[in-house]
Amino acid sequence: MTRNALVTGSQSQLARCLRMAGAPPGWRAAYLARGEMDITDAAQVHSVLSAAAPDCVINTAAYTAVDRAETEADEARRVNAGGVANLARWCGENGARLIHVSTDFVFDGRAASPYRHDDAPAPLGEYGRGKLAGEHELDKLPAGQGVIVRASWLYSEFGRNFVRTMLGLMAERDELAVVNDQTGCPTSAHSLAALIWRMLLSPEKSGLYHWRDGGVMNWYEFALEIQKWGQAAGVLQKMIPIRPITSAEYPTSATRPAYSVMDRARAMEDFGMPERDWRSELIRVIGAIAEQGGPQ
Ligand SMILES: NC(=O)c1ccc[n+]([C@@H]2O[C@H](COP(=O)([O-])OP(=O)(O)OC[C@H]3O[C@@H](n4cnc5c(N)ncnc54)[C@H](OP(=O)(O)O)[C@@H]3O)[C@@H](O)[C@H]2O)c1
Repeated sequence: MTRNALVTGSQSQLARCLRMAGAPPGWRAAYLARGEMDITDAAQVHSVLSAAAPDCVINTAAYTAVDRAETEADEARRVNAGGVANLARWCGENGARLIHVSTDFVFDGRAASPYRHDDAPAPLGEYGRGKLAGEHELDKLPAGQGVIVRASWLYSEFGRNFVRTMLGLMAERDELAVVNDQTGCPTSAHSLAALIWRMLLSPEKSGLYHWRDGGVMNWYEFALEIQKWGQAAGVLQKMIPIRPITSAEYPTSATRPAYSVMDRARAMEDFGMPERDWRSELIRVIGAIAEQGGPQ
């Protein structure tokens, strides 16, 4: 019997990677854009999900404008907590599993070793607070029905992300300054998608998971890698000087965690998810951007 997964936010970079990889054996997936199901619209969520009757809802829809969330906290919370509440309500009433994606921004970044799933969250900003409130909505599901996967530093050939932004700036500018005092792990949305598809094959697993690719670095170091592989792929015609700066020299509305390396051991063990070589993932994504004709 084929089972049905329903993916919200079909235009997100993650949903596009899920679609590209394709659902695992025994599953078929439907993808709904915001226009087809706005997760903040409780009545629409109820009627669309009732008609589709999915066995599993995968929520990639989110308010992801981290800096804007500082001045639009209510809107961020309406999507990232209220929207999740609507999905969780339907899943709870109808016995469906809910796989929800959250973020490293639930942590304050003061740790000195990788964050475990059971470390205490302490968000620094409105985006993180809204996402944490969204996580709590899954607590209302019957036991065993909810899965949360926290990811960090997501990038792909789709949408808005650091890799595409950097390639655009590197092509336009003569020099660039990038912060070097925030440490994390660039994570391909393709590897997160692969983990999520594996989750469908282990329906007995539930609770909190962390995911990331293997390279630990700061944004400046990541920018150097992007430039190197961007030139190798022919996306960049010239190399420009890239200067390391501190976060204090590049103020943003939202404070970022200084350290957001996640401990992904539980995800690797429970779902048999192997590590993907982070550099190979970056080269693959930059190759796809080259095939698209560049980051614009
Ligand atoms: N990007 C990162 O670095 C990062 C890091 C950690 C965790 N995450 C989490 O990973 C997940 C996927 O992130 P992403 O970067 O792939 O997302 P993304 O590319 O920013 O896309 C978010 C999508 O959500 C949709 N959306 C917004 N409000 C909605 C609503 N009310 N109803 C339905 N859809 C709505 C948007 O629709 P429109 O296209 O119509 O605007 C957009 O397509 C999110 O939960 C995010 O919080 C992201």
